[in-house]
Amino acid sequence: MATQTMSPSKAAIIANPVANPLGYQTFAIGSFRFERDQYFAHIHYPGNQHIMPVDAFLRALMRDVGWGFFYGTVNFDHVFGTLNHYGTVEMFIGMFNDAFRKAHRDFVENFDSPDLRKVFEAMLDDWTNEGFDPYAAPDETGLAYGRKHGSNTKALKRQRMVATRMVGLPGDLGYRTDIDGYPVNRQFTDVPQDLPEIHAAPGFEGQVHAFNMFAYVSRSDVTWNPSVVSCVHDSQFCATTEEHALPIMHGNDRVEWFIQATDEIIWDVDDKNTGAPRAKVTMKAGDVAAMPADIRHKGYSPKRSMLIVWENNDAALPRMYSRGELKPHPVEF
Ligand SMILES: [Fe+2]
Repeated sequence: MATQTMSPSKAAIIANPVANPLGYQTFAIGSFRFERDQYFAHIHYPGNQHIMPVDAFLRALMRDVGWGFFYGTVNFDHVFGTLNHYGTVEMFIGMFNDAFRKAHRDFVENFDSPDLRKVFEAMLDDWTNEGFDPYAAPDETGLAYGRKHGSNTKALKRQRMVATRMVGLPGDLGYRTDIDGYPVNRQFTDVPQDLPEIHAAPGFEGQVHAFNMFAYVSRSDVTWNPSVVSCVHDSQFCATTEEHALPIMHGNDRVEWFIQATDEIIWDVDDKNTGAPRAKVTMKAGDVAAMPADIRHKGYSPKRSMLIVWENNDAALPRMYSRGELKPHPVEF
């Protein structure tokens, strides 16, 4: 067992600022080294190496960077990933793979989150070619392959619009229209765009507002990237549009509620620690599911769909679940 749980490894180092013959830089932090070629990302760690198709690697890397290592585990595939400890982050090989663990082939190293983030951001930027947007659905973007050609920093640095007050009220960024550059997505042309009627009592005009959230979300230009819609204490209500496959397998560290708002997503649900299959869940519009705290899941959305994800941001939850103080599922039937 090569588990390292000591204090975080230091030295976020770009190992080789000179690009390889294909034009790509090599990146290293701690005992990990990352190289890319025309089709693959190669992850070197003490004693061995792991390989991933580079488009899948970049789509997962984009989410890990964009979500700040997210809640719990971001499995890039069945072998490699990160585990968020909210301030530090573990990068691992085979830590949640039963076969790797039984063969003592698992490896994990702990990093200060800003150090790992720096390396991931630099790698994402260098390895993403012009025309490839890892946030986009595969049918809406170019290919990630080949020798290094150009970059797509604009897509990688995409900033969320942050509402300063309720969307649509004076002083906010406003309700987006075609004219503002956010057209309805090609797969949401059936989503009604009508606006609700608002009848504010005299004196309350400018303080009361409503908007069509389906119309709003139908203009999202990214996939599998939750945006916080409302935040009340630790309750985070996140709407997102999904097309093709979730680029990671998310390992929960708390219960996560899903509300399928439109269309359909098929979920593979596996044991968080071993990867053993536990369930296949097909969610159709209107379905609600609680994803337990002890699973990992990957979703497949054959057509672009809308999913609302409800998270409890309470920082005490991961420890309570790992100690067994809370059941991993919120409801007993
Ligand atoms: Fe999840």
